[in-house]
Amino acid sequence: MLARLKEDISCVFARDPAAQSAFEVVTTYPGFHAVLIHRCSHWLWLRGFRWAGRYVSFLGRWLTGIEIHPGAQIGRRFFIDHGMGVVIGETAVIGDDCTLYHGVTLGGTSWNKGKRHPTLGNGVVIGAGAKVLGPIEIGDGARVGSNSVVVKSVPVGVTVVGIPAHIVDAKAKQEKARRDAMAQKIGFDAYGATSDMPDPIANAINLMLDHIHQLDKQIADMQQVLHDAGIDCHRQTIPALDDCEIKDKQ
Ligand SMILES: CC(C)(COP(=O)(O)OP(=O)(O)OC[C@H]1O[C@@H](n2cnc3c(N)ncnc32)[C@H](O)[C@@H]1OP(=O)(O)O)[C@@H](O)C(=O)NCCC(=O)NCCS
Repeated sequence: MLARLKEDISCVFARDPAAQSAFEVVTTYPGFHAVLIHRCSHWLWLRGFRWAGRYVSFLGRWLTGIEIHPGAQIGRRFFIDHGMGVVIGETAVIGDDCTLYHGVTLGGTSWNKGKRHPTLGNGVVIGAGAKVLGPIEIGDGARVGSNSVVVKSVPVGVTVVGIPAHIVDAKAKQEKARRDAMAQKIGFDAYGATSDMPDPIANAINLMLDHIHQLDKQIADMQQVLHDAGIDCHRQTIPALDDCEIKDKQ
């Protein structure tokens, strides 16, 4: 019990650079108070003291501005920063080492009984004001951008942002940069078309750009093999595309 309490205090230092001392955390961090109160209300809830659990949880909300249903299952080293306005529903499940900021809702989308709130894996971070709704799963290590609305499960380790939340795809970003470089090389301007504004002509040209990129690469590879084999194939250097070189090295 004491060890769990120590963990709850020390995890604050790891995640809030403003934290000065354990005394400060214990006396002035509403997120810490809310977790402590929840451990008590959950204990009562599990032993069938439902009203008492609800009442302790109500007192916690009154004192901290954080509403955690006593039925919610919360793992170790859970940290709520700032806290005001956080709502965690009855059937929510939270893994170890998760962090929530103020204004986060782990809510339901249905009035039916049964599992209706989210399940968070380990090490999940949910930014200020984000709403995570329904019996969905947020994978280990996932991060939810502030003010996002998440209504679908989120895979392990990704970042999601926006309304409705979508995955921030680092690979797609690299791919787009490569295409843009190729488009610039051949003088094509897609008038700012992006993947979320599908334009059939821009799409067709993007596919051709990918194809040209592959052909460039294959021809360069073949020339290299012939050159290494001592065959002179009158190599002509294809104008360098910096981004291709970076990609090829990866
Ligand atoms: C999303 C978050 C977790 C960062 O994740 P990350 O994987 O490092 O992502 P990045 O910062 O590289 O951002 C990736 C993209 O998402 C965008 N993005 C980040 N947060 C966003 C948000 N809340 N809403 C919309 N877009 C967002 C970025 O602009 C960037 O877009 P780009 O690829 O077009 O440039 C972080 O921005 C966040 O919101 N953390 C919560 C912090 C918080 O609530 N603090 C409160 C302290 S009081």
